[in-house]
Amino acid sequence: MRALTWHGKHDVRMDTVPDPRLVNPRDAIIRITSTAICGSDLHLYDSYIPSMHRGDILGHEFMGEVVETGLKSTLQKGQRVVVPFVIACGKCFFCEKEQFSACDNSNPAEKADLSEVAYGYAMSGLFGYSHMTGGYAGGQAEYVRVPYSDVGPIVIPDGLEDEKVLFLSDILPTGWMAAENCEIEPGDTVAVWGCGPVGLFSIQSAFLMGAHRVIAIDHYPHRLELAKSMGAEIVNYHDVKVREALTEMTGGIGPDAVIDAVGMESHGFTIDNVLDAVTTTKLGTDRTHVLREVIMACRKGGRVSIPGVYGGMGDKIPIGALMQKGLQVRTGQTHVQRYLRPLLEMIGEGRIDTTFLISHRLPLEQAPEGYKMFKEQQNEVTKVVLKPEWQKDAA
Ligand SMILES: NC(=O)c1ccc[n+]([C@@H]2O[C@H](COP(=O)([O-])OP(=O)(O)OC[C@H]3O[C@@H](n4cnc5c(N)ncnc54)[C@H](O)[C@@H]3O)[C@@H](O)[C@H]2O)c1
Ligand SMILES: [Zn+2]
Ligand SMILES: [Zn+2]
Repeated sequence: MRALTWHGKHDVRMDTVPDPRLVNPRDAIIRITSTAICGSDLHLYDSYIPSMHRGDILGHEFMGEVVETGLKSTLQKGQRVVVPFVIACGKCFFCEKEQFSACDNSNPAEKADLSEVAYGYAMSGLFGYSHMTGGYAGGQAEYVRVPYSDVGPIVIPDGLEDEKVLFLSDILPTGWMAAENCEIEPGDTVAVWGCGPVGLFSIQSAFLMGAHRVIAIDHYPHRLELAKSMGAEIVNYHDVKVREALTEMTGGIGPDAVIDAVGMESHGFTIDNVLDAVTTTKLGTDRTHVLREVIMACRKGGRVSIPGVYGGMGDKIPIGALMQKGLQVRTGQTHVQRYLRPLLEMIGEGRIDTTFLISHRLPLEQAPEGYKMFKEQQNEVTKVVLKPEWQKDAA
């Protein structure tokens, strides 16, 4: 089959690779119909995540048709499914608590070693996201093997086309969990850093959860316009000092909750950001400028939600502000499985629409161009969807 493979910094290629096959009874094989490029994929593209091997197949946002099932899979051939990017067994201590991204079984022991060193305990497996998270082949391919297919994938009813449901695989539940982690109360003002897919879906979710005001921060005019069209007030950090603007907009108090939907690759020419950028290496990579800013900007006693991905050690975190102001912090890889059913229902009822985000649709064969565009033209390119069935047209 054809698949997008990683070969090093800014080097991803379409390769012909062996087809996946069933390995365990709970596996299923999915023929991919749609897959997307995520902001998290850019961390791999920029080579910030350790333990990537040449030839690894990328992609963790995907959906498709079930073509093969193991003896213990509950799926049936021909069903259309969206697959969560988090791989979870459904039965361990953590899965029983619905903390799926902490699953203790989905990251094979010999691969989990590095995440144990880096994080104290091994994390769950993720699709297409380095050997620290299991080294599983991803879904930017014609086919993918889905372990624990009786737990993760959600069957999509007829009549809901791919583009309406594809983002259930990651960014929609991620935006939802980011807002949920803010424990929004009536009257609250929520500030969201980053108007990429995760930030925009956090804004949408915050309003659905009853936020009175949402303030969106970025520097790309088009992305800020999208945030505005969703009802957010906007702050362009090129034009103003973010914390001062937020203090003024909130009557001197600061936002009740803050969301870092940027993560380890924050932009901007502030002194701390420039210092972080020149001193980073692999696990010491994290540019925590936005994390520092959200902590400083949050009101006393407020809530800090961090969906943005960090990978290793961060420097100069204002721990004093965090402690003295009594902030609550919640973060994590999304427990996708927990949110699939309620979010699918909201999509079906027309309460959530995610299609506005898609700016580019390409055949899978053009995935390398898709990565380059998503990396270099972030203003216009808000989300790239890849379609393997368009291969022949592209050839
Ligand atoms: N927790 C999870 O499970 C999970 C899932 C998916 C994505 N993520 C992470 O969420 C983050 C966002 O993902 P995305 O797909 O929206 O990425 P993206 O790269 O498309 O968007 C990031 C946005 O942040 C903006 N930004 C950069 N520096 C900023 C600053 N100093 N202040 C304000 N905005 C700034 C950029 O201009 C960009 O619009 C990434 O770190 C990604 O890895 C986490
Ligand atoms: Zn993702
Ligand atoms: Zn588990």
